[in-house]
Amino acid sequence: MAFRSLDSLLLLIGLLSLSLQPPLTVLAATNLRFTLNRKLSQNVPVFREAPAFRNGHACGSSTNDRIHLAMTLDSNYLRGTMAAVLSILHNSCCPENIIFHFLWLRFDHDIKTNIKTTFPYLNFKLYRFNSGMVQDKISKSIREALDEPLNYARIYLADIIPVDVKRIIYLDSDLVVVDDIEKLWRVDLQDKVLAAPEYCQANFTQYFNDYFWTDPELRNIFEGKDPCYFNTGVMVLDVEKWRKGRYLQKVEEWMVVQKQKRIYHLGSLPPFLLVFAGNIKAVDHCWNQHGLGGDNIEGKCRSLHPGAISLLHWSGKGKPWLRLDSRKPCVVDHLWAPYDLYRSSKHIFD
Ligand SMILES: *[C@@H]1O[C@H](CO)[C@@H](O)[C@H](O)[C@H]1NC(C)=O
Repeated sequence: MAFRSLDSLLLLIGLLSLSLQPPLTVLAATNLRFTLNRKLSQNVPVFREAPAFRNGHACGSSTNDRIHLAMTLDSNYLRGTMAAVLSILHNSCCPENIIFHFLWLRFDHDIKTNIKTTFPYLNFKLYRFNSGMVQDKISKSIREALDEPLNYARIYLADIIPVDVKRIIYLDSDLVVVDDIEKLWRVDLQDKVLAAPEYCQANFTQYFNDYFWTDPELRNIFEGKDPCYFNTGVMVLDVEKWRKGRYLQKVEEWMVVQKQKRIYHLGSLPPFLLVFAGNIKAVDHCWNQHGLGGDNIEGKCRSLHPGAISLLHWSGKGKPWLRLDSRKPCVVDHLWAPYDLYRSSKHIFD
């Protein structure tokens, strides 16, 4: 099909979507046209507008009732972030009490507009994560995607968000929450700095190399502890204790050791394990059904772990949006699809 002008193309898309979705209002059509204009000019993905999610009657409205969540914004994962946000709002009893803290690398006006257009009612704050803080401390890992500075942003979180935020949940962008996030938020941390699902049956040895395990001084840091693997994609952090205990410096110190001696293969996970493993508050496994991205083998699908599910996490190489687009999705990817807000003009023509 050839279009004489951009306007006629946009008009056609608008009419098509109107006929596909009768309840679409004139206002939404204007929005669509606006976002499409952006898409065509700047290559920013286009998302549908999410509905306004409202608090139930039992929800409080004081500072204590606020729930703080942190996520990173990365142009490659934006579709994942949007789906995660939608899933959280959709399954929350008090969605208006949730405040999102987004970390991004640039002051990119397009992404801010994009969030506002997709979630007009969202409580969110944007912070610039200065990658210069971490760039020289990153060592090459076995997977290039793990070396992105933004992967390390979670270490700097406590220093970036406002000081009056005392607790925060950090979430990766390749997940959806299918339960009320407040249940995770209310976890009793006791004296711990970090809460996450813990996996004591996983082989902990493999997260560090032979050099690490044969060096008595290094190996000793787990002495007297019962270290277990945990995934850093879902963590509840006591930010006050983190700041007071100078945990940023503790994690960074291990990154310096890694740079000098190479003691592990992965990216931002091992330094977290070195500081926290054996000393976290374990939460129910339902809060991180991880590994759904599969192994690093192309096209390899994973099935669900046994038990109840509150959060589905596509950690690993495969991402549900890529597999759905390639029309070779895994069975679990269909659990992500209902939260996908992405609307490409290509799909409309399909
Ligand atoms: C754990 O992993 C290490 C290193 O990959 C391996 O040598 C060891 O045999 C594994 N242990 C078990 C119990 O599987």
